[in-house]
Amino acid sequence: MIRKAGAGDAAALADLAAVTFPLACPPGSSPEDIRIHLKRTLSEDRFAEYLADSKIAILVLEEGGQLDGYTLLVDRQATDPDVLRALSAQPSVELSKCYVHPDHHGRGAASALMLASLDWAADQGAAGVWLGVNSENAKAIRFYEKSGFTRVGTKSFTLGDSVENDFILEYALPRKV
Ligand SMILES: CC(C)(COP(=O)(O)OP(=O)(O)OC[C@H]1O[C@@H](n2cnc3c(N)ncnc32)[C@H](O)[C@@H]1OP(=O)(O)O)[C@@H](O)C(=O)NCCC(=O)NCCS
Repeated sequence: MIRKAGAGDAAALADLAAVTFPLACPPGSSPEDIRIHLKRTLSEDRFAEYLADSKIAILVLEEGGQLDGYTLLVDRQATDPDVLRALSAQPSVELSKCYVHPDHHGRGAASALMLASLDWAADQGAAGVWLGVNSENAKAIRFYEKSGFTRVGTKSFTLGDSVENDFILEYALPRKV
């Protein structure tokens, strides 16, 4: 089942993020940088803030009362000049996070979450969806390209105290009639 997360999901989301975020990091990432990022960005308190933000939606994949995946979407104009330069479809929702528990990889769960996420963005009146993905995360890049995203630029991403290279990918939503 896919549903919009609510205030009561913050702790479970932080637990899921602690398992899934390291999978998106390049092989050489330091455990300390990952720990810092989890604390700054993916803690229970941070998820509680995201859940209270009217411009953010978190969609969760749930089975038997357990969260197995989530996406976090931000319906706000991007501020990074590299992103603004790269996007052709505006306004654009950011798919800021897209994570599935490894037990559920390769089973269609990620595609179901993606479809629900694109639907949510279309419902907000967006013309497109964009995301940043680490340039070494071949598995995620393949998944996004299969989902219809195309590479439109590059930007930097701070992981703890290191700066990583991200590709910017964009999906143009069909026009609503
Ligand atoms: C990125 C992520 C969400 C993609 O999910 P996924 O389930 O691994 O990706 P896919 O849906 O492409 O599935 C992987 C493989 O299983 C296959 N598959 C998918 N659904 C299937 C199904 N129902 N039955 C059989 N095979 C299936 C796919 O065809 C794919 O094979 P391929 O790689 O040869 O094309 C997931 O890998 C993940 O959470 N990774 C860690 C976190 C991360 O990197 N997030 C992105 C940050 S930007």
